[in-house]
Amino acid sequence: MRGQLIISDAVVFKFTNVVCGSYNQSWFVFHNYRLRAVSRNKVLLNINGTVLHPANNISIHVRIFKKANGYKPWLVDIYVDGCQYILKRNQPVLNIVYGLFKQFSNINHSCPYVGPQIIKDFYLRPELLRLPMPTGDYLLALQWYFDKKLQFDTNISFTFVEDLMKSK
Ligand SMILES: *[C@@H]1O[C@H](CO)[C@@H](O)[C@H](O)[C@H]1NC(C)=O
Ligand SMILES: *[C@@H]1O[C@H](CO)[C@@H](O)[C@H](O)[C@H]1NC(C)=O
Ligand SMILES: *[C@@H]1O[C@H](CO)[C@@H](O)[C@H](O)[C@H]1NC(C)=O
Ligand SMILES: *[C@@H]1O[C@H](CO)[C@@H](O)[C@H](O)[C@H]1NC(C)=O
Ligand SMILES: *[C@@H]1O[C@H](CO)[C@@H](O)[C@H](O)[C@H]1NC(C)=O
Repeated sequence: MRGQLIISDAVVFKFTNVVCGSYNQSWFVFHNYRLRAVSRNKVLLNINGTVLHPANNISIHVRIFKKANGYKPWLVDIYVDGCQYILKRNQPVLNIVYGLFKQFSNINHSCPYVGPQIIKDFYLRPELLRLPMPTGDYLLALQWYFDKKLQFDTNISFTFVEDLMKSK
């Protein structure tokens, strides 16, 4: 039992950076976004923004990059219809991301989106990442389109250290 605890402690899965930006301050504003380390391997992500007019037509450009002499595209580069997705949960990659953060956010509802959009004290839990992922530094870049026009970015970097003792 103690061995298992040590093994799972060996996994690192934590945020390393967050950069957000609005392209249209009359539709989406960020009040703040920040990381706060509470221990060596646990970093909390907080994002506070406001949608100023109801958004009914949302598309998300989801990309993952992996660091190797700069960030290189890594497997995922998709557009997702946000209003359809939240009803159907029919996108496997997004399901992983959504499963990790849904309990820390108020965006768990159907369209339209308007008013405060909050992510509070979100931290990554390796046990929920059911995906073989090589050790490395990653960037999850989400670009949010309303009515097909780019409104804002949420770029989140994280580090993942593979649990070698669990893999074959
Ligand atoms: C987010 O990342 C993408 C991809 O690297 C980049 O094009 C975009 O400028 C970034 N946005 C911000 C606000 O830094
Ligand atoms: C910016 O937001 C306003 C207000 O919601 C909207 O009418 C306008 O189309 C948006 N412009 C762009 C370029 O997204
Ligand atoms: C988000 O920012 C707004 C504007 O600064 C503030 O009024 C609100 O209390 C903040 N919400 C949270 C949950 O921090
Ligand atoms: C919001 O989350 C709860 C609990 O995870 C779930 O039961 C509910 O169906 C979700 N609502 C929507 C609109 O996705
Ligand atoms: C979203 O808005 C764009 C641009 O206005 C439009 O072409 C498209 O049909 C809309 N999509 C939906 C699902 O309403």
